[in-house]
Amino acid sequence: MTYPATRLRRTRSAAWSRALHRETILTPADLIWPVFVTSGTGVTEPIKTMPGVNRLSVDMLAKAAKEAASLGIPCIALFPNTQPERRSEDGAEALNPDNLMCQAIRALKDAAPELGVLTDVALDPYTTHGHDGLLTQDGRILNDATIEVLIGQSLNQARAGADIIAPSDMMDGRVGAIRDGLESHGFDLVQIMAYSAKYASAFYGPFRDAVGSSGHLKGDKKTYQMDPANAREALREVELDILEGADSVMVKPGLPYLDIIRSLRDSFDVPIFAYQVSGEYAMIEAAIAAGVLDRDRAILEALTAFKRAGCAGVLTYHAPHAARLLG
Ligand code: PBG
Repeated sequence: MTYPATRLRRTRSAAWSRALHRETILTPADLIWPVFVTSGTGVTEPIKTMPGVNRLSVDMLAKAAKEAASLGIPCIALFPNTQPERRSEDGAEALNPDNLMCQAIRALKDAAPELGVLTDVALDPYTTHGHDGLLTQDGRILNDATIEVLIGQSLNQARAGADIIAPSDMMDGRVGAIRDGLESHGFDLVQIMAYSAKYASAFYGPFRDAVGSSGHLKGDKKTYQMDPANAREALREVELDILEGADSVMVKPGLPYLDIIRSLRDSFDVPIFAYQVSGEYAMIEAAIAAGVLDRDRAILEALTAFKRAGCAGVLTYHAPHAARLLG
């Protein structure tokens, strides 16, 4: 039936009706808040490339976590800005049971035990060369040797209390190896959220500044992160990670890759998360600062798009602000 019998404007014509017909609902429970941790006490250090985002010392993180929990945010993702003198060729600090990440996990569990703690597994915050894995003399990534370290890093985080291990390194086979490691050490209920479709993206620039890995990153990450031109390959990555034991998978970056989210949603029943990355955050904030976007509407619209595309939830630096708006 066509016009005038069918007028799609009818159901849009009043707020109550729009509410009734809304297909996608965003709530604070959809949000994971990524936080950058730094050493010291009482430190709240602004990140130049991410206006409004700070690196927090562990004590300040504990305060922020309580606030996040009270806003209904279910989970915090941690990223350490490792002290330069603790970085090395082999990233051994990743295995230190008292590294910044482990201190932060314990502080979070202490301050807000009701919050889930997601931890990033990859070597880039710990290596002097800024790559996610171990390198040969001539700068090639050592996939299988890296996996051995990632297992140790995962166990280190699980022992400190991590709830979700999130490998972001893109080595082949790491999800299964980490799952085996967790199972054989009694961490059978620790989840794995695999960064399955992680692209070699220009949108990570501000993050590398935030964790202090940008200054010295040699080369790029194109031999392990995905080519932004590929969509079908994302299905293969996700299929493998599900078979290897991932509890959920991630697409990253977010908004430029909504087509990937949608095709994964249509092909798999695994929970899908998106990472609205640092560059996306910086773009939205820059547009707000330039007076060309309305802050609250822009933030909520972008986050709603992830759910509409098929996400179970979103990692976003806007989490506290969005949760306040939604609460
Ligand atoms: C590295 C890692 C990156 C991000 C999360 N984990 C950067 C990279 O791969 O270089 C990016 C997050 C963001 O940009 O917000 N393992």
